[in-house]
Amino acid sequence: MNQTVLITGGSRGIGLALARHFARAGDRLILAALPDPELEHAAQSLKDAFPDVQVLTYPVDLTTPDAPQRLWSFVHEHQWHVDVLVNNAGFGTWGEVPRIDVEQELRMIDLNIRAVYSLTRLALDTMQTRDSGHIIFIASIAAFQPNPYMATYGATKAFIRNFGMALYHELKAKRSGIRVTTVCPPAIPTAFREVAGMHRSTLYSGWLSSDVETVARATWKGYLRKSRQVIPTWYLPLINPISRLLPEQFSIWLSRQTLRQNLPG
Ligand SMILES: NC(=O)c1ccc[n+]([C@@H]2O[C@H](COP(=O)([O-])OP(=O)(O)OC[C@H]3O[C@@H](n4cnc5c(N)ncnc54)[C@H](OP(=O)(O)O)[C@@H]3O)[C@@H](O)[C@H]2O)c1
Repeated sequence: MNQTVLITGGSRGIGLALARHFARAGDRLILAALPDPELEHAAQSLKDAFPDVQVLTYPVDLTTPDAPQRLWSFVHEHQWHVDVLVNNAGFGTWGEVPRIDVEQELRMIDLNIRAVYSLTRLALDTMQTRDSGHIIFIASIAAFQPNPYMATYGATKAFIRNFGMALYHELKAKRSGIRVTTVCPPAIPTAFREVAGMHRSTLYSGWLSSDVETVARATWKGYLRKSRQVIPTWYLPLINPISRLLPEQFSIWLSRQTLRQNLPG
């Protein structure tokens, strides 16, 4: 399709799985992730599987305030213009709020909110001049209700989902050619689980779990269909309407029951 696609957190997990779909379609890619050999391995695996596809890598810590602007300048230095931005990089924390390292939570807010917002603004500036483009937000099912023991993470994902959905409606109201898709994946056993210290959490073996390829495939289909929201797996789309019919206390209780199991300390 010859689109230029920027994927944050493209070195593994959902980002890399999604990169394969874009590469298969003939798009060129910029993968941005933390400075780590994993990023080059990811790019090489894509080049090996899809020899005609161009892949650039940009090692960056997106929690640093000027990182989004530096990433954007890097893309422009290569005379590339981003057609599709995938706001995917993110991590989570697990535990009672006062017991979680405050600096880790602030880094998470910087990555999951600040970097997403900054990159989206940069993308909108470029896309508006061409009246075309697509922004994909990777939120979470944690975005639908307050989440005891993942309080801050859930709140960052609620920001992403609300922001993405509102942006979709703003652009639709003015008949813009720019598309927005917000994705709400369930629990998937990627490196996310280890980074959040959740290896003992039952979340990843229960009915709320899925796998990375299911999420990537659903996201890819949602992108092709220009869907407003993607909730991978067939039963999860029922959660939102059902939870709206139930008292909020119930969905918070359900979330708390799920997240408190095997909580450390
Ligand atoms: N896994 C789940 O259960 C789940 C559920 C719902 C939503 N999500 C969301 O899905 C997205 C992707 O998660 P995943 O499961 O694919 O996790 P993952 O496998 O841990 O991948 C996270 C990606 O983000 C990158 N990243 C982390 N910190 C970064 C930073 N400071 N600057 C730049 N890049 C950074 C990582 O780079 P490195 O490889 O260099 O560390 C990696 O490429 C996240 O936004 C997450 O919140 C995940």
